[in-house]
Amino acid sequence: MAPDNRVPERLDRAVIFLGPPGAGKGTQAKELAKAYRVPHLSTGDMFREHVSQGTPLGQQVKPIMARGDLVPDSLVLKMVRERIERPDCSHGFVFDGFPRTVAQAQYLSVLLRQNGYRPALVIYFAIDPALVFRRITGRRMCKVGGEIYNIYDRSPKVEGRCDNDGGELEQRADDREEVVGPRLQAYEKQTEPLVSYYRRLGRLHEVDAAQDVESVKQRMFEIVRNSR
Ligand code: AP5
Repeated sequence: MAPDNRVPERLDRAVIFLGPPGAGKGTQAKELAKAYRVPHLSTGDMFREHVSQGTPLGQQVKPIMARGDLVPDSLVLKMVRERIERPDCSHGFVFDGFPRTVAQAQYLSVLLRQNGYRPALVIYFAIDPALVFRRITGRRMCKVGGEIYNIYDRSPKVEGRCDNDGGELEQRADDREEVVGPRLQAYEKQTEPLVSYYRRLGRLHEVDAAQDVESVKQRMFEIVRNSR
């Protein structure tokens, strides 16, 4: 039987994508946000935008990100608070890469309550860290629209150019081989505890992120549809 791909009219909640670097969070968050016409809030993309514009925040976080470390909570939380209080978030939003520490998660639950949201739905992208190395080092992103490709598995039709807008594809500064190890260590130490944190709260829904993009997508939509 064909899968049911219909989505309800509105999301009306916060959805959190949790998982290691390269698990496929950004790829799927774009799809979910597009289907429900809500903002895709990637804290990594927000910081990269600051870095490319050379803002004071960008100058502060640039060396931290290039090392593969996490940006301090205080900087992340201020940026997130300002973002979700904008009117375009009023029908829900998809968090990709936030929260990343227990302190961020605790802050977020207060922020959601204060802004009248239900508790967030958490989708955990479970994958063996050994599998993400190839995904990370092979990733290329469009400089214009941020579309995500992979030179091994999801290559564009024309090498180095985005299928959507012809934009130049580039490698992220933190996708170099030597930064992958520190990023995975930061994940294991600071972010992985969120898996049991959200599981204890009964909010965690798991996706087998080692599967192909289409299978992960089907499962993600199924979770969102069934957890209204
Ligand atoms: P961020 O930008 O959030 O990066 P990340 O969490 O490390 O995650 P990635 O973007 O690497 O991976 P992804 O899971 O989105 O995978 P993707 O879909 O692209 O953070 C970067 C940095 O910013 C952090 O290190 C930190 O310094 C800072 N930061 C950000 N948020 C922060 C916070 N809250 N607190 C503190 N610091 C913060 O896919 C990867 C590749 O795999 C792509 O090439 C894709 O085409 C391919 N792919 C995707 N799915 C599949 C599949 N199913 N099968 C095969 N290939 C696939």
